[in-house]
Amino acid sequence: MMKKKLVIGNWKMNLNMHESSIFLHNLSEKVKVHRDIDVILAPSTFTLQSLSLQVNHHQFKLAAQNFYWRDQGAFTGEVSVSQLRGIVQYALVGHSERRNIFGETDKDVRAKVAAAIRNNIRPILCIGENSDERNYGEANLVISDQLIGGLANVSSEDIEKVVIAYEPVWAIGTGEHASAEDVKRSVRIIRSLIRTLFGQEAASDVRILYGGSVNLSNADVYLNVDNVDGLLIGGASLDAYQFSGIVEKAHFMQLEETKRRIDERL
Ligand code: 13P
Repeated sequence: MMKKKLVIGNWKMNLNMHESSIFLHNLSEKVKVHRDIDVILAPSTFTLQSLSLQVNHHQFKLAAQNFYWRDQGAFTGEVSVSQLRGIVQYALVGHSERRNIFGETDKDVRAKVAAAIRNNIRPILCIGENSDERNYGEANLVISDQLIGGLANVSSEDIEKVVIAYEPVWAIGTGEHASAEDVKRSVRIIRSLIRTLFGQEAASDVRILYGGSVNLSNADVYLNVDNVDGLLIGGASLDAYQFSGIVEKAHFMQLEETKRRIDERL
């Protein structure tokens, strides 16, 4: 069976309540519903609840950008993933901005992955090397460390709930594009590590996304890379024309893939 592709918009710390609501309205007019694509929006935590009342759940799923791993307690200013139950279906974990600006470690990341799973929310584990690590030839090592570190608390029954997003830090918000070859190599490493840790079935089932300066003109390059199951989009997800266009591209490629499979069988 073909896996659904995921197209995720990470709005980061943009759009106030009013703007988010208008933007969601625009998106809902432009983004078509396709059975082979899940479209997921990650607005700021502050707007999540009101957007969850406005959103057509058939059209969009919601994701949190961040949360704290404890379920409740004296943690001033934090939001727990258990408080997000019923509002989001997914949650980003370990985004490079969380790691680099807010000092999140693999230990925090693995606690968050476990907390999301415990609360029936699918974690989207973000991993990727920065430009120094890339230049020193350490990219594979960093990806492997972050993956092993982030998945350390996940059992083989739960691994299929996890989505992995490969986002090279040097390509995030920079307009610098990873090549298809770069992405292919990293996704291959991720899958083979998942095979080692969780077995062959998990390795083929887990969805691995690419993110980093994805826009309407380069989306098909990444969607075309072997074994890439979708995209995590920052800047271009705040543009309804581009975001809806990317969803259409993903759907078109799913159709092509279906046709190819049918032809192979004939
Ligand atoms: P850009 O698409 O703006 O590079 O951001 C990518 C990203 O960080 C998505 O999580």
